[in-house]
Amino acid sequence: MPALRVSIIGSGNWGSAIAKIIGCNVQGSNRFQPVVNMWVFEEVIEGRKLTEIINQDHENVKYLPGHKLPRNVVAIPDLVKATEDADILVFVIPHQFIHRICDQLAGHLKSGVYGISLIKGVDEGPDGLKLISDIIREKLGIEISVLMGANIASEVADEKFCETTIGCKNPRHGQIFKEIFQTPNFRVTVVDDCDTVEICGALKNIVAVGAGFCDGLDFGDNTKAAVIRLGLMEMVAFAKLFCKGSVSTNTFLESCGVADLITTCYGGRNRKVAEAFAKTGKSIEELEKEMLNGQKLQGPQASAEVYKILKQKDLVDKFPLFVAVYRICYERCPIQAFISCLQNHPEHY
Ligand SMILES: NC(=O)c1ccc[n+]([C@@H]2O[C@H](COP(=O)([O-])OP(=O)(O)OC[C@H]3O[C@@H](n4cnc5c(N)ncnc54)[C@H](O)[C@@H]3O)[C@@H](O)[C@H]2O)c1
Repeated sequence: MPALRVSIIGSGNWGSAIAKIIGCNVQGSNRFQPVVNMWVFEEVIEGRKLTEIINQDHENVKYLPGHKLPRNVVAIPDLVKATEDADILVFVIPHQFIHRICDQLAGHLKSGVYGISLIKGVDEGPDGLKLISDIIREKLGIEISVLMGANIASEVADEKFCETTIGCKNPRHGQIFKEIFQTPNFRVTVVDDCDTVEICGALKNIVAVGAGFCDGLDFGDNTKAAVIRLGLMEMVAFAKLFCKGSVSTNTFLESCGVADLITTCYGGRNRKVAEAFAKTGKSIEELEKEMLNGQKLQGPQASAEVYKILKQKDLVDKFPLFVAVYRICYERCPIQAFISCLQNHPEHY
């Protein structure tokens, strides 16, 4: 078997942290080619191009400062050049850019290429929900798996132990992905319930915004536990309604489910910005610019996409927590409405 070439599409906070792992793992295995291309959205930082900084100093000073990237990770600003020889594509960009990226890639990939998406988010299609993996699959005609979990990028980059979940229907690909991603401090479990894995990754960011509202209103850990429980119930109900295949409740017990929900409701940028939103009254867009240094928020936009889908299906009343997050972020609904939403939420579905 010829050695497989891996390319990474994206170089943000998570993209750079995962590049550290992939770069090391491919070097240690003869299954893979030793050089990993990483497509970088070019920016100029203090007069130098980000790709030059990464290739010369081996550090993504904007999105993952303080961490050296392996020397075999090569930053390339041209998307087609970065991916044209790849056998395996790792998609790790904010979800709002996926349509444009796929349009640019279409027609330029090697035959037989397959991919894995680390992107947390959903889109809406004419029939309701559209997963990011669906968009990639449809636009590029490739097999696509997903990786989601309780994986705050800076902690993964610091090599602090955590778990992650890969959703993959092809056992051969599942094994290869495990070799690409697993380390002693980043434990991978592979399941075949791909849609549930992916939907968990998108929906937990909405719940995290609610958790941030509670922090901003000075509520305590008991309230946050209620947000997590009620949010998890809505995640399960939403997955059961909208996932194409059967939904296994066990998947919610994997890292992509309850573990990711907990970590995002305590750490992470969605919670942090939502807390500031409650405290300052500034808009989400303003706070994203002020607080995130170019990183993108996922939760508010995911709530808007989910709201559109729920409205289309006449299901707004069944998901009060998701809907409250949307209305507070985008419809000037007062933030205290989030607490009323918790008080009036059905205890069980
Ligand atoms: N950061 C985390 O802790 C974490 C953990 C797990 C999953 N994720 C998910 O990974 C995905 C990528 O997140 P991230 O943290 O790597 O990104 P990020 O939010 O840190 O960075 C933004 C990225 O978008 C790029 N960008 C900016 N404008 C662009 C444009 N017009 N077109 C294309 N790219 C553009 C930037 O160059 C940068 O690489 C998201 O779906 C996120 O939810 C993040």
